[in-house]
Amino acid sequence: MTGPRPTDHDIDAEAFRERALTSLVRARERTTLLTTCVEEPDLTAQHSPLMSPLVWDLAHIGNQEELWLLRAVAGQDAIRPEIDSLYDAFEHPRAERPTLPLLSPHEARSYAAEVRGRALDVLESAAFRGTTRLTDAGFAFGMIAQHEQQHDETMLITHQLRKGPPALTAPDPVPAPLFTGPAEVLVPGGPFTMGTSDEPWALDNEGPAHTREVAPFFIDTTPVTNGAYLRFIEDGGYDDPRWWTADGWAHVRRTSLRAPLFWRRDGGQWLRRRFGTVEAVPHEEPVLHVCWYEADAYARWAGRRLPTEAEWEKAARFDPATGGSTRYPWGDADPGPEQANLGQRHLRPAPAGSCPGGESPLGVRQLIGDVWEWTASDFLPYPGFRAFPYKEYSEVFFGPEHKVLRGGSFAVDAVACRGTFRNWDLPVRRQIFSGFRTARSAAL
Ligand code: AVJ
Ligand code: FE
Repeated sequence: MTGPRPTDHDIDAEAFRERALTSLVRARERTTLLTTCVEEPDLTAQHSPLMSPLVWDLAHIGNQEELWLLRAVAGQDAIRPEIDSLYDAFEHPRAERPTLPLLSPHEARSYAAEVRGRALDVLESAAFRGTTRLTDAGFAFGMIAQHEQQHDETMLITHQLRKGPPALTAPDPVPAPLFTGPAEVLVPGGPFTMGTSDEPWALDNEGPAHTREVAPFFIDTTPVTNGAYLRFIEDGGYDDPRWWTADGWAHVRRTSLRAPLFWRRDGGQWLRRRFGTVEAVPHEEPVLHVCWYEADAYARWAGRRLPTEAEWEKAARFDPATGGSTRYPWGDADPGPEQANLGQRHLRPAPAGSCPGGESPLGVRQLIGDVWEWTASDFLPYPGFRAFPYKEYSEVFFGPEHKVLRGGSFAVDAVACRGTFRNWDLPVRRQIFSGFRTARSAAL
């Protein structure tokens, strides 16, 4: 006797269950690395007022997983109801977190492990089809894997801010042959589909899909490099108000910015600190750790501008052969090492022009991975946006105070990165793995 034959939907559900499992396991391996590569005092210390102690991120990862996978999906009771408020990002700003009665590293680890053990049991039997929107295609599991990976990137930023000897190692990217292609690419004008309504694990702000009219424009083939940015510095870019917005100029004066964060001038040479190692600034690598004001000023100095968010997404997703939008610049297949520098596989961006396998049909490179790219745009909802499953992911951040970043950095995992993925931050922030590319409107 054989049971009923599996339907296509059952097969789909099993593929999502497998994907959820591998994504959760990969995230936890990374979390474990980031929270065991330093001694306890470095887990409980606050390395910058901009960041939480690492041990806060660890327990917060477990707490979000408990809230969504154990309580919301499986209807379980709270394991430790008294800790919820400690790990609610909205109740306590980052600067205040070290003063809270946080779980110790040992307690945080065993709490996160207990949640994970139960979550994997829930995953094994959860229905993924014809359920609520929270579990359809395993969304909640995908959301929680992305959440953990986002905090892993946050913890990697904390590691970059930490003073002291290196704790992390990774091989450098394989040097690409020097890129000799055109410096910019023409993206044709006309409508394209922005955002998504059918990517199963897309987060709420990525949808709904809608048509955007975009005028023809040129966009840089690669992100702006350290070498190019150095020319802006050496040309007195930081001392010339012509290149800066009023807010940017006020900021650059007030905080005495002279160069990207972590850079230092030593005699005739620029050095940078990267995960505890001081090294010469590599000219061919995309510039990292600049704020929106610096990116915007550089672009004006270069006679150009930042791309809008819609322009960036059209460059990344528009396929002129079909007129449709793909998930990634190279098509719909998930990213591999040939396509993008992701997942902390290397602890740095790859030289400009790397990853030819990740090129868009129009020939734009390194849109995914390497450095988050500042865009000209404010973080706003798309027409028809609906918060899901909670307003505090996106909705409370919509508005002109946040600028959109696109494409993901070397510190982003593939599960948390797509052509539609939207990140945002304040225009002054530069501890994040941020860079940019520039654009210009095409003459009509
Ligand atoms: C989307 C990266 C801006 O880290 O503040 C993590 C992601 N939201 N926990 C952030 C997030 C809730 C968020 N960013
Ligand atoms: Fe969070």
